[in-house]
Amino acid sequence: MLIPHDKISEIAQANDIIEVISGYIQVKKRGNSYLALCPFHQDKNPSLHISQQKQVYHCFSCKAGGNVFSFIENYEHVTFIDAVKKLAEKAGIALVFDSNSPDTSSEKSRLYEINKSAAIYFRNNINDLKSSEKELVTGYLDSRGLDKKTVNKFGIGYSYKSWDGLLHHFTEEDIFTPEEVEKSGLIIKKEDSKNTYYDRFRGRLMFPIFNEYDKIVGFGGRKLYEDDLGGKYINSPESKVYSKSRILYGLNFAKEKIRYYDYVILVEGYMDVIALYKNEIENAVASSGTALTEEQTRLLSRYTKNVYLLFDSDMAGIKAAKRGIELLLETGFDISIISLPFGEDPDSYIKNNGKKEFDKRIQERMSFINFIAEYYRKENKLESVEEKTIFIKEMIGYIAKIPDRIKRSLFIKEISGEYKLNESLLTDELNKFLRSGKNNSFPKSSLSLPEKKPEGSVKTAFGNNNFESELLELFIHGNDEALAYLENNLHTEYIKDRKILSITEKILDELINHGSLDISAVINELKEDGEKEILSRISNSRYEASYLEKSGSDNLLSQSANPVYTIKNAEDLVKKFRIRELEIKRSEIRSDPGKMLEVFEITKEINELMKN
Ligand code: GTP
Ligand code: MN
Repeated sequence: MLIPHDKISEIAQANDIIEVISGYIQVKKRGNSYLALCPFHQDKNPSLHISQQKQVYHCFSCKAGGNVFSFIENYEHVTFIDAVKKLAEKAGIALVFDSNSPDTSSEKSRLYEINKSAAIYFRNNINDLKSSEKELVTGYLDSRGLDKKTVNKFGIGYSYKSWDGLLHHFTEEDIFTPEEVEKSGLIIKKEDSKNTYYDRFRGRLMFPIFNEYDKIVGFGGRKLYEDDLGGKYINSPESKVYSKSRILYGLNFAKEKIRYYDYVILVEGYMDVIALYKNEIENAVASSGTALTEEQTRLLSRYTKNVYLLFDSDMAGIKAAKRGIELLLETGFDISIISLPFGEDPDSYIKNNGKKEFDKRIQERMSFINFIAEYYRKENKLESVEEKTIFIKEMIGYIAKIPDRIKRSLFIKEISGEYKLNESLLTDELNKFLRSGKNNSFPKSSLSLPEKKPEGSVKTAFGNNNFESELLELFIHGNDEALAYLENNLHTEYIKDRKILSITEKILDELINHGSLDISAVINELKEDGEKEILSRISNSRYEASYLEKSGSDNLLSQSANPVYTIKNAEDLVKKFRIRELEIKRSEIRSDPGKMLEVFEITKEINELMKN
């Protein structure tokens, strides 16, 4: 239900806060102020202060605070709308709403309205295009098979290649101020001036991102022009209504079908969801470039427990999705893999082979466990005893994540039969794994990525070697190329310091989502003890020390007080990380006579890296 802003004010004015709160608790007047025992915590002395003049309350002890509506919301545990209804009724105000006028009743609803208005604007642009811009955009839509029906369904639009197209739209519309629109991330305030803004999305194909209730929370903008230096996709930044870890693209369109078919196809990108939908496969959602999060799995679990993964289903794609897969297994999902030929995504595959072939791929999906097993077999990685050992450990690692005992034992049976492995040995191994604790790290293997090490397991950051701090310094002072190199080549498992790892993950997130790095935004994101301090310390220490100075790379500090690190520095650092990684691995297996060959190979690789 939409409640217009002025209606809310009317209702608020008709309900004096002292009177309303007195209806629930005892309020005492002391001088000019009103006091009460705070109902939102165990209050011994009255710490709830109510201001009649401002019509607000505030607890000096527990910090609860708000207006008449929030008091009702919190006291009665009802929604804002219900609080409004209650007070309207009390004051005898009728609630008849015009559902066409924008809902400006709260900050969130205003953000939804702003996004909706922008979506309509972007959508209309497609029809209003002229000359070369028209040719390019319609040409692109055609080439991607985005017909009118699809464009309408997904609300696809276009942002003009201009700095103020959307800004003008909002000025003309005259409902929302630029300050408010800025909160949606659609426009950005210029740094050097007070009240000038510019469009975030320029010359891009716009995909509205909906939440599961069809509200637009943000946009993904796909690059269309060669000279656009931004990433392939730019997304709206996080806002009061958009948290990317909580959104699955396409869920609003897919949820009924997911329930109906009792499975969801999980893909990577916007275009994958859309391509499938166009081909009447309407139960697909995308994690949109991020690894699946716990919140996303929770969202999905409301609709089904069966996930078909349709990633770049080579091993690299699976590896990238590993954390998500673990999460899904842990929360009791059944995972299958739909594999496509190398280099194809759903969009291209259906285009080249038709829907029928694609349906066949769905039919031929494999359970995740069998997929991994098949991989080992296909790669001939089940020959030697060592290989078999690695295989078993990897499989057990995954199977151990499955909460259901019966399922676990069925998988064990299947694998033992299929790959001629002793069943009781597998069971033993599984039990060992389970006994050693739920949060046990995965066994090392050729497939699994090393897990995060507990803090202190390797001397780092400010200890023996400073690679981790160098890394942060590079992020802070690197040029675009250096950052892009890190984004693509840095493996987070290189980082042994838990805090720095967590900081780095946030930095990478920021880079991926905004295409640029705003360190102060990252600092705001950091919640754990000490993380903020590490990052602020390093970002402020630029004049003092360069960790890179000692690394043998060009000493940029001596040239400028404001160092800019280049791709060369980034390459060097990644190489050093890689070497350290290899050295750690070598030291772990050095004393094992059976691993001599491996030690030799690692040494060769280290020498190779040191030479270049
Ligand atoms: P097309 O390349 O147009 O086919 O799009 P796609 O949706 O298939 O994208 P792709 O498979 O390359 O990437 C999967 C998803 O990752 C995308 O839908 C985006 O959500 C995300 N993504 C890809 N590239 C970028 C990027 O440069 N920046 C950001 N923030 N996200 C990206
Ligand atoms: Mn694609």
